[in-house]
Amino acid sequence: KVYTDYFYDEPAFNTHDGGYVPLERMDVPEQPLSIPPLLEPDKSTDTDTYYTLIAQAGETQILPGAKTKTWGYNTTLLGKTIVFEKGKHIHVTLKNELPELTTFHWHGLNVSGPIVDGGCHAPVYPGETKQIDFTLDQPAATTWLHAHPCPSTAEQVWHGLAGITIIKDKEEAKLPLPRNYGVDDIPLVLQDRRFHENNQWDYHADYDPDGVQGPTALINGTVNPYFDVKTQKVRLRILDGANRREWRLHFSDDLVFTQVGSDGGILPAPVKFTKLMLTCAERAEIVVDFGQYHKGDVVTLYSDDVPIVNFRIGNFAPDDSVIPEHLAAIPNPEPTPDLPVKKVVMSGMDEEVMIDGKKFNMQRIDARQNVGDVAIWEITNTNNMDGGMVHPFHMHGCQFLVLSRNGHEPYPNEHGFKDTVGVNPGEIVRIKVWFTLPGVYMYHCHIIEHEDGGMMAQIEAVDPKHPQTYELMDMDTL
Ligand code: C2O
Ligand code: CU
Ligand code: CU
Repeated sequence: KVYTDYFYDEPAFNTHDGGYVPLERMDVPEQPLSIPPLLEPDKSTDTDTYYTLIAQAGETQILPGAKTKTWGYNTTLLGKTIVFEKGKHIHVTLKNELPELTTFHWHGLNVSGPIVDGGCHAPVYPGETKQIDFTLDQPAATTWLHAHPCPSTAEQVWHGLAGITIIKDKEEAKLPLPRNYGVDDIPLVLQDRRFHENNQWDYHADYDPDGVQGPTALINGTVNPYFDVKTQKVRLRILDGANRREWRLHFSDDLVFTQVGSDGGILPAPVKFTKLMLTCAERAEIVVDFGQYHKGDVVTLYSDDVPIVNFRIGNFAPDDSVIPEHLAAIPNPEPTPDLPVKKVVMSGMDEEVMIDGKKFNMQRIDARQNVGDVAIWEITNTNNMDGGMVHPFHMHGCQFLVLSRNGHEPYPNEHGFKDTVGVNPGEIVRIKVWFTLPGVYMYHCHIIEHEDGGMMAQIEAVDPKHPQTYELMDMDTL
Protein backbone atom coordinates (compact mmCIF):
# COMPACT_ATOMS: atom_id res chain seq x y z
CA LYS A 1 0.00 0.00 0.00
CA VAL A 2 1.20 3.47 -0.90
CA TYR A 3 -0.24 6.47 0.96
CA THR A 4 -0.70 9.55 -1.18
CA ASP A 5 -1.82 12.29 1.20
CA TYR A 6 -0.37 14.41 3.96
CA PHE A 7 -2.98 13.28 6.51
CA TYR A 8 -2.96 16.63 8.31
CA ASP A 9 -6.04 18.86 8.14
CA GLU A 10 -5.45 21.00 5.10
CA PRO A 11 -7.23 24.12 6.50
CA ALA A 12 -4.72 24.15 9.36
CA PHE A 13 -1.63 24.24 7.14
CA ASN A 14 0.58 27.24 7.82
CA THR A 15 -0.32 28.43 4.31
CA HIS A 16 -3.62 29.62 5.82
CA ASP A 17 -1.87 31.83 8.34
CA GLY A 18 -2.03 35.58 7.61
CA GLY A 19 1.71 35.79 8.23
CA TYR A 20 2.59 32.86 5.98
CA VAL A 21 5.72 33.37 3.94
CA PRO A 22 5.66 31.13 0.88
CA LEU A 23 8.93 29.52 -0.14
CA GLU A 24 10.54 30.99 -3.24
CA ARG A 25 13.44 29.63 -5.21
CA MET A 26 16.28 32.13 -4.92
CA ASP A 27 18.02 33.12 -8.12
CA VAL A 28 21.51 31.94 -7.21
CA PRO A 29 23.53 29.06 -8.67
CA GLU A 30 23.04 25.52 -7.43
CA GLN A 31 25.60 24.33 -4.92
CA PRO A 32 26.54 20.92 -3.58
CA LEU A 33 24.50 20.03 -0.51
CA SER A 34 26.59 20.67 2.56
CA ILE A 35 27.03 17.49 4.59
CA PRO A 36 27.91 18.34 8.19
CA PRO A 37 31.22 16.66 9.08
CA LEU A 38 31.23 14.14 11.91
CA LEU A 39 32.32 15.35 15.33
CA GLU A 40 35.42 13.40 16.31
CA PRO A 41 35.45 12.28 19.93
CA ASP A 42 38.29 13.62 22.09
CA LYS A 43 38.82 10.11 23.36
CA SER A 44 36.98 6.85 23.46
CA THR A 45 37.28 3.57 25.28
CA ASP A 46 35.18 0.40 25.14
CA THR A 47 32.69 1.92 27.51
CA ASP A 48 33.09 5.70 27.40
CA THR A 49 33.23 8.41 24.76
CA TYR A 50 34.34 12.01 25.34
CA TYR A 51 33.40 15.01 23.26
CA THR A 52 33.89 18.75 23.36
CA LEU A 53 31.06 20.87 22.04
CA ILE A 54 31.66 24.53 21.32
CA ALA A 55 28.84 26.98 20.65
CA GLN A 56 30.52 29.55 18.46
CA ALA A 57 29.85 32.51 16.22
CA GLY A 58 31.28 32.79 12.74
CA GLU A 59 30.62 33.62 9.13
CA THR A 60 29.42 31.25 6.46
CA GLN A 61 29.51 31.59 2.69
CA ILE A 62 25.87 30.78 1.97
CA LEU A 63 25.22 33.10 -0.96
CA PRO A 64 27.57 34.61 -3.54
CA GLY A 65 29.05 37.84 -2.15
CA ALA A 66 29.13 38.69 1.53
CA LYS A 67 29.32 35.91 4.07
CA THR A 68 26.42 35.56 6.49
CA LYS A 69 26.99 35.91 10.24
CA THR A 70 25.95 32.58 11.71
CA TRP A 71 26.25 30.43 14.83
CA GLY A 72 27.03 26.76 15.11
CA TYR A 73 28.39 23.87 17.14
CA ASN A 74 32.09 23.27 16.37
CA THR A 75 31.51 24.88 13.00
CA THR A 76 30.15 28.20 11.83
CA LEU A 77 26.61 27.06 10.99
CA LEU A 78 24.43 24.26 12.42
CA GLY A 79 26.70 21.64 13.93
CA LYS A 80 29.02 18.77 13.33
CA THR A 81 27.06 15.52 13.35
CA ILE A 82 27.49 13.45 16.51
CA VAL A 83 27.20 9.68 16.32
CA PHE A 84 26.37 8.01 19.61
CA GLU A 85 26.52 4.31 20.23
CA LYS A 86 23.83 2.78 22.40
CA GLY A 87 25.14 1.63 25.76
CA LYS A 88 28.09 4.01 25.86
CA HIS A 89 28.69 6.39 28.70
CA ILE A 90 29.00 9.82 27.11
CA HIS A 91 30.97 12.73 28.56
CA VAL A 92 30.56 16.13 27.00
CA THR A 93 32.47 19.32 27.69
CA LEU A 94 30.17 22.21 26.84
CA LYS A 95 31.88 25.46 25.90
CA ASN A 96 30.15 28.72 25.22
CA GLU A 97 32.13 31.08 23.02
CA LEU A 98 29.07 33.17 22.16
CA PRO A 99 28.48 36.69 23.47
CA GLU A 100 25.40 35.53 25.45
CA LEU A 101 24.31 32.59 27.56
CA THR A 102 23.13 29.46 25.83
CA THR A 103 22.12 25.91 26.71
CA PHE A 104 22.79 22.59 24.93
CA HIS A 105 19.52 20.67 24.65
CA TRP A 106 19.52 17.05 23.52
CA HIS A 107 16.16 16.95 21.76
CA GLY A 108 15.01 13.34 21.72
CA LEU A 109 17.52 11.90 24.17
CA ASN A 110 16.28 10.21 27.32
CA VAL A 111 18.74 11.92 29.62
CA SER A 112 18.05 13.37 33.04
CA GLY A 113 16.56 16.82 33.40
CA PRO A 114 16.85 19.64 33.97
CA ILE A 115 20.65 19.89 33.74
CA VAL A 116 21.97 17.18 31.42
CA ASP A 117 18.89 17.59 29.21
CA GLY A 118 20.05 21.15 28.59
CA GLY A 119 16.73 22.96 28.80
CA CYS A 120 16.46 26.45 30.21
CA HIS A 121 17.71 25.49 33.70
CA ALA A 122 21.17 24.64 32.41
CA PRO A 123 22.74 27.90 31.26
CA VAL A 124 26.34 27.98 30.12
CA TYR A 125 27.41 31.60 30.38
CA PRO A 126 29.70 33.29 27.84
CA GLY A 127 33.25 32.06 28.25
CA GLU A 128 32.12 29.27 30.56
CA THR A 129 32.83 25.54 30.28
CA LYS A 130 30.67 22.84 31.86
CA GLN A 131 30.76 19.06 31.97
CA ILE A 132 27.87 16.67 31.61
CA ASP A 133 27.72 12.92 31.28
CA PHE A 134 25.00 10.40 30.62
CA THR A 135 24.48 6.82 29.56
CA LEU A 136 23.04 6.51 26.09
CA ASP A 137 20.26 4.00 26.58
CA GLN A 138 17.74 4.13 23.78
CA PRO A 139 17.35 2.66 20.31
CA ALA A 140 18.96 3.84 17.08
CA ALA A 141 17.41 7.13 15.98
CA THR A 142 17.96 10.54 14.49
CA THR A 143 17.80 13.16 17.21
CA TRP A 144 19.19 16.67 17.43
CA LEU A 145 20.95 19.21 19.53
CA HIS A 146 19.75 22.78 19.82
CA ALA A 147 19.98 25.82 22.04
CA HIS A 148 17.18 26.19 24.62
CA PRO A 149 17.64 29.35 26.72
CA CYS A 150 14.44 31.04 27.86
CA PRO A 151 13.15 33.07 26.18
CA SER A 152 15.60 33.19 23.29
CA THR A 153 15.56 29.62 22.01
CA ALA A 154 13.98 30.72 18.75
CA GLU A 155 16.50 33.44 18.07
CA GLN A 156 19.50 31.22 18.85
CA VAL A 157 18.21 28.40 16.67
CA TRP A 158 17.58 30.99 13.93
CA HIS A 159 21.24 32.05 14.19
CA GLY A 160 22.15 28.42 13.50
CA LEU A 161 22.42 26.50 16.76
CA ALA A 162 21.03 23.16 15.60
CA GLY A 163 22.98 19.98 14.96
CA ILE A 164 22.14 16.40 14.02
CA THR A 165 22.81 13.53 16.39
CA ILE A 166 22.59 9.93 15.26
CA ILE A 167 22.20 6.99 17.63
CA LYS A 168 23.41 3.60 16.46
CA ASP A 169 22.61 0.20 17.91
CA LYS A 170 23.04 -3.48 17.08
CA GLU A 171 19.44 -4.02 15.96
CA GLU A 172 19.51 -1.25 13.38
CA ALA A 173 22.93 -2.42 12.20
CA LYS A 174 21.37 -5.73 11.11
CA LEU A 175 18.77 -4.13 8.85
CA PRO A 176 19.45 -3.81 5.12
CA LEU A 177 19.40 0.00 5.21
CA PRO A 178 21.90 2.45 3.78
CA ARG A 179 24.27 3.67 6.50
CA ASN A 180 27.34 5.09 4.81
CA TYR A 181 27.27 8.62 6.22
CA GLY A 182 27.53 11.34 3.60
CA VAL A 183 27.31 8.85 0.74
CA ASP A 184 24.00 7.00 0.99
CA ASP A 185 22.95 8.08 4.49
CA ILE A 186 22.56 11.82 4.72
CA PRO A 187 20.94 14.26 7.10
CA LEU A 188 18.60 16.89 5.68
CA VAL A 189 18.04 19.76 8.07
CA LEU A 190 15.14 21.75 6.63
CA GLN A 191 15.07 25.43 7.54
CA ASP A 192 14.02 28.70 6.00
CA ARG A 193 15.52 32.17 6.25
CA ARG A 194 15.19 35.64 4.84
CA PHE A 195 18.38 37.26 3.61
CA HIS A 196 18.56 40.99 4.25
CA GLU A 197 21.13 43.55 3.15
CA ASN A 198 24.62 42.14 2.72
CA ASN A 199 23.27 38.58 2.93
CA GLN A 200 22.58 38.92 6.67
CA TRP A 201 19.76 37.43 8.72
CA ASP A 202 17.74 39.78 10.88
CA TYR A 203 15.64 37.89 13.41
CA HIS A 204 14.02 40.99 14.87
CA ALA A 205 13.05 42.43 11.50
CA ASP A 206 11.37 39.14 10.60
CA TYR A 207 9.80 38.55 14.01
CA ASP A 208 6.33 37.04 14.14
CA PRO A 209 4.93 35.71 17.45
CA ASP A 210 3.41 32.78 15.54
CA GLY A 211 6.85 31.78 14.31
CA VAL A 212 9.53 33.36 12.20
CA GLN A 213 9.73 32.33 8.57
CA GLY A 214 11.75 33.26 5.51
CA PRO A 215 11.14 32.64 1.82
CA THR A 216 14.41 30.83 1.14
CA ALA A 217 14.79 27.14 1.91
CA LEU A 218 18.08 26.37 3.59
CA ILE A 219 18.96 22.68 3.52
CA ASN A 220 21.89 21.79 5.81
CA GLY A 221 22.67 25.48 5.45
CA THR A 222 22.76 25.29 1.63
CA VAL A 223 20.62 27.36 -0.74
CA ASN A 224 19.60 25.55 -3.97
CA PRO A 225 21.47 22.36 -3.10
CA TYR A 226 22.11 19.37 -5.30
CA PHE A 227 23.28 15.98 -4.15
CA ASP A 228 25.20 13.55 -6.36
CA VAL A 229 23.53 10.15 -6.08
CA LYS A 230 26.07 7.31 -6.28
CA THR A 231 23.95 4.47 -4.92
CA GLN A 232 20.55 3.18 -5.95
CA LYS A 233 19.11 3.69 -2.49
CA VAL A 234 19.63 6.72 -0.34
CA ARG A 235 18.54 7.15 3.25
CA LEU A 236 17.52 10.66 4.21
CA ARG A 237 17.38 11.61 7.88
CA ILE A 238 15.04 14.55 7.59
CA LEU A 239 14.64 17.05 10.42
CA ASP A 240 12.19 19.93 10.38
CA GLY A 241 14.64 22.35 11.98
CA ALA A 242 12.60 25.42 11.13
CA ASN A 243 11.21 27.75 13.78
CA ARG A 244 7.72 27.63 12.31
CA ARG A 245 7.53 26.10 8.86
CA GLU A 246 5.77 22.86 8.06
CA TRP A 247 7.31 20.99 5.14
CA ARG A 248 5.02 19.24 2.69
CA LEU A 249 7.50 17.00 0.94
CA HIS A 250 7.20 15.08 -2.30
CA PHE A 251 9.49 14.12 -5.16
CA SER A 252 9.23 14.67 -8.87
CA ASP A 253 7.26 11.94 -10.72
CA ASP A 254 5.45 11.32 -7.41
CA LEU A 255 8.30 8.97 -6.65
CA VAL A 256 7.33 6.55 -3.90
CA PHE A 257 9.61 6.53 -0.85
CA THR A 258 9.66 4.39 2.27
CA GLN A 259 9.65 5.80 5.76
CA VAL A 260 11.66 3.59 8.09
CA GLY A 261 12.11 5.80 11.14
CA SER A 262 10.36 8.48 13.16
CA ASP A 263 11.59 10.81 15.93
CA GLY A 264 12.68 8.17 18.40
CA GLY A 265 13.81 5.32 16.20
CA ILE A 266 13.09 2.73 13.58
CA LEU A 267 9.40 2.08 12.86
CA PRO A 268 7.89 -1.35 13.56
CA ALA A 269 7.17 -1.63 9.83
CA PRO A 270 8.10 0.45 6.78
CA VAL A 271 5.45 2.77 5.34
CA LYS A 272 5.33 3.83 1.70
CA PHE A 273 4.38 7.38 0.79
CA THR A 274 4.39 9.83 -2.05
CA LYS A 275 3.85 12.76 0.33
CA LEU A 276 5.05 13.53 3.80
CA MET A 277 4.35 16.47 6.05
CA LEU A 278 6.70 17.28 8.91
CA THR A 279 5.89 19.77 11.63
CA CYS A 280 8.58 21.57 13.60
CA ALA A 281 11.17 19.32 15.29
CA GLU A 282 9.79 16.08 13.83
CA ARG A 283 12.15 13.70 12.11
CA ALA A 284 11.57 11.10 9.44
CA GLU A 285 14.08 8.63 8.11
CA ILE A 286 13.15 7.70 4.58
CA VAL A 287 14.74 5.46 1.99
CA VAL A 288 14.49 6.65 -1.60
CA ASP A 289 15.01 4.09 -4.37
CA PHE A 290 16.35 5.75 -7.53
CA GLY A 291 16.38 2.42 -9.39
CA GLN A 292 14.15 3.66 -12.22
CA TYR A 293 16.52 6.54 -13.10
CA HIS A 294 19.67 6.76 -15.17
CA LYS A 295 22.86 8.74 -15.16
CA GLY A 296 22.11 12.37 -15.93
CA ASP A 297 18.53 12.33 -14.60
CA VAL A 298 17.58 14.76 -11.89
CA VAL A 299 15.03 13.90 -9.19
CA THR A 300 13.74 16.87 -7.26
CA LEU A 301 12.49 17.04 -3.69
CA TYR A 302 9.82 19.69 -3.33
CA SER A 303 8.06 21.37 -0.44
CA ASP A 304 4.67 22.39 -1.79
CA ASP A 305 5.65 23.32 -5.36
CA VAL A 306 9.09 24.74 -4.60
CA PRO A 307 12.16 22.63 -5.42
CA ILE A 308 14.38 22.30 -2.33
CA VAL A 309 16.96 19.62 -3.26
CA ASN A 310 17.99 18.24 -6.66
CA PHE A 311 19.27 14.69 -6.64
CA ARG A 312 21.59 14.29 -9.63
CA ILE A 313 21.67 10.68 -10.65
CA GLY A 314 25.07 9.19 -11.38
CA ASN A 315 26.20 5.64 -12.05
CA PHE A 316 25.28 3.15 -9.41
CA ALA A 317 25.42 -0.59 -8.98
CA PRO A 318 22.02 -2.34 -8.94
CA ASP A 319 20.69 -2.84 -5.42
CA ASP A 320 17.95 -5.41 -5.08
CA SER A 321 17.90 -5.39 -1.29
CA VAL A 322 14.38 -5.44 0.11
CA ILE A 323 13.31 -3.54 3.19
CA PRO A 324 11.83 -6.19 5.47
CA GLU A 325 8.19 -6.04 6.49
CA HIS A 326 9.20 -6.08 10.13
CA LEU A 327 11.86 -3.60 11.22
CA ALA A 328 11.89 -3.08 14.97
CA ALA A 329 10.16 -4.31 18.09
CA ILE A 330 8.60 -1.37 19.90
CA PRO A 331 7.90 -1.92 23.59
CA ASN A 332 4.31 -1.16 24.42
CA PRO A 333 3.87 -1.28 28.20
CA GLU A 334 0.42 -1.53 29.77
CA PRO A 335 -0.82 1.70 31.35
CA THR A 336 -0.39 1.72 35.12
CA PRO A 337 -3.81 0.87 36.63
CA ASP A 338 -5.83 3.65 38.27
CA LEU A 339 -3.77 6.54 36.95
CA PRO A 340 -5.94 9.44 35.84
CA VAL A 341 -5.56 10.59 32.24
CA LYS A 342 -3.20 13.57 32.22
CA LYS A 343 -4.84 16.37 30.25
CA VAL A 344 -2.90 19.11 28.49
CA VAL A 345 -4.59 21.96 26.66
CA MET A 346 -2.73 23.98 24.06
CA SER A 347 -4.59 27.19 23.35
CA GLY A 348 -4.27 30.50 21.59
CA MET A 349 -2.23 32.00 18.82
CA ASP A 350 0.21 34.92 18.67
CA GLU A 351 0.99 36.33 22.12
CA GLU A 352 -2.02 34.51 23.60
CA VAL A 353 -0.50 31.03 23.42
CA MET A 354 -0.72 29.01 26.64
CA ILE A 355 -0.66 25.53 28.09
CA ASP A 356 -3.53 24.76 30.46
CA GLY A 357 -4.43 28.45 30.48
CA LYS A 358 -1.02 29.46 31.83
CA LYS A 359 2.22 30.93 30.57
CA PHE A 360 5.46 29.12 31.34
CA ASN A 361 7.04 29.80 34.70
CA MET A 362 10.52 28.38 35.19
CA GLN A 363 9.98 27.92 38.92
CA ARG A 364 6.60 26.24 38.76
CA ILE A 365 6.34 22.47 38.39
CA ASP A 366 3.10 21.88 36.55
CA ALA A 367 2.79 18.12 36.84
CA ARG A 368 4.32 15.06 38.43
CA GLN A 369 4.57 11.45 37.29
CA ASN A 370 6.42 8.59 38.92
CA VAL A 371 9.35 7.12 37.07
CA GLY A 372 8.24 3.80 35.62
CA ASP A 373 4.54 4.67 35.63
CA VAL A 374 2.92 4.45 32.23
CA ALA A 375 0.39 7.24 31.85
CA ILE A 376 -2.08 8.23 29.18
CA TRP A 377 -1.74 11.88 28.22
CA GLU A 378 -4.44 13.63 26.28
CA ILE A 379 -3.28 16.67 24.34
CA THR A 380 -5.96 19.05 23.10
CA ASN A 381 -5.48 21.88 20.62
CA THR A 382 -8.39 24.27 21.21
CA ASN A 383 -7.68 26.36 18.10
CA ASN A 384 -10.47 25.98 15.62
CA MET A 385 -10.32 25.17 12.01
CA ASP A 386 -11.11 28.65 10.73
CA GLY A 387 -7.95 30.40 11.77
CA GLY A 388 -6.29 27.73 13.84
CA MET A 389 -2.95 26.09 13.47
CA VAL A 390 -1.17 22.80 14.04
CA HIS A 391 0.79 22.95 17.33
CA PRO A 392 3.63 20.40 17.41
CA PHE A 393 3.60 19.04 20.99
CA HIS A 394 7.05 18.06 22.25
CA MET A 395 8.19 16.40 25.49
CA HIS A 396 11.68 16.28 26.95
CA GLY A 397 13.06 13.25 28.73
CA CYS A 398 11.00 10.57 27.04
CA GLN A 399 9.89 9.00 23.81
CA PHE A 400 6.14 8.43 23.72
CA LEU A 401 3.73 6.37 21.65
CA VAL A 402 0.81 7.95 19.80
CA LEU A 403 -2.42 6.10 20.62
CA SER A 404 -5.13 8.00 18.78
CA ARG A 405 -6.22 11.19 17.05
CA ASN A 406 -9.79 12.20 17.96
CA GLY A 407 -10.44 8.58 18.81
CA HIS A 408 -9.16 7.33 15.45
CA GLU A 409 -5.98 5.50 14.53
CA PRO A 410 -2.85 7.66 14.45
CA TYR A 411 -1.25 8.28 11.05
CA PRO A 412 0.46 5.23 9.48
CA ASN A 413 3.94 6.56 10.33
CA GLU A 414 3.06 7.16 14.00
CA HIS A 415 3.50 3.62 15.27
CA GLY A 416 7.07 4.12 16.46
CA PHE A 417 8.62 6.29 19.15
CA LYS A 418 7.89 9.99 18.94
CA ASP A 419 8.91 13.00 20.97
CA THR A 420 6.97 15.52 18.92
CA VAL A 421 3.47 15.16 17.52
CA GLY A 422 1.55 17.67 15.42
CA VAL A 423 -1.86 18.33 16.99
CA ASN A 424 -4.45 19.69 14.56
CA PRO A 425 -6.93 22.43 15.53
CA GLY A 426 -9.85 20.94 17.42
CA GLU A 427 -8.00 17.68 17.84
CA ILE A 428 -7.37 15.50 20.88
CA VAL A 429 -4.27 13.35 20.58
CA ARG A 430 -3.75 10.57 23.08
CA ILE A 431 -0.21 9.44 23.82
CA LYS A 432 1.38 6.95 26.20
CA VAL A 433 4.14 8.46 28.32
CA TRP A 434 6.69 6.97 30.67
CA PHE A 435 9.93 8.30 32.10
CA THR A 436 12.98 6.19 32.85
CA LEU A 437 14.98 8.82 34.74
CA PRO A 438 13.95 11.20 37.51
CA GLY A 439 14.16 14.87 36.68
CA VAL A 440 12.37 18.02 35.66
CA TYR A 441 11.42 18.08 32.00
CA MET A 442 9.78 20.66 29.77
CA TYR A 443 6.88 20.01 27.44
CA HIS A 444 5.84 22.58 24.91
CA CYS A 445 4.77 23.60 21.46
CA HIS A 446 7.75 23.34 19.10
CA ILE A 447 6.83 26.36 17.05
CA ILE A 448 9.78 27.93 18.77
CA GLU A 449 8.26 31.39 19.09
CA HIS A 450 5.27 29.78 20.84
CA GLU A 451 7.63 28.05 23.24
CA ASP A 452 9.46 31.31 23.96
CA GLY A 453 6.07 33.02 24.20
CA GLY A 454 5.13 30.78 27.13
CA MET A 455 3.40 27.77 25.51
CA MET A 456 5.48 25.54 27.75
CA ALA A 457 5.16 23.74 31.06
CA GLN A 458 7.29 21.33 33.07
CA ILE A 459 6.84 18.00 34.77
CA GLU A 460 8.82 16.34 37.49
CA ALA A 461 9.44 12.65 36.96
CA VAL A 462 9.63 11.42 40.54
CA ASP A 463 11.44 8.42 41.93
CA PRO A 464 9.32 7.88 45.07
CA LYS A 465 12.11 5.96 46.78
CA HIS A 466 14.64 8.73 46.26
CA PRO A 467 12.82 12.06 46.38
CA GLN A 468 14.93 14.91 45.06
CA THR A 469 14.71 18.63 45.13
CA TYR A 470 15.69 20.69 42.15
CA GLU A 471 17.06 24.16 42.00
CA LEU A 472 15.04 25.78 39.30
CA MET A 473 16.41 28.90 37.67
CA ASP A 474 14.37 32.02 37.42
CA MET A 475 14.09 33.88 34.16
CA ASP A 476 14.91 37.20 35.84
CA THR A 477 18.14 36.00 37.42
CA LEU A 478 19.47 34.15 34.38
CU1 C2O B 1 13.54 20.75 20.71
CU2 C2O B 1 12.30 21.85 24.41
O1 C2O B 1 12.97 21.30 22.57
CU1 CU C 1 13.43 18.76 23.43
CU1 CU D 1 2.10 26.39 18.83
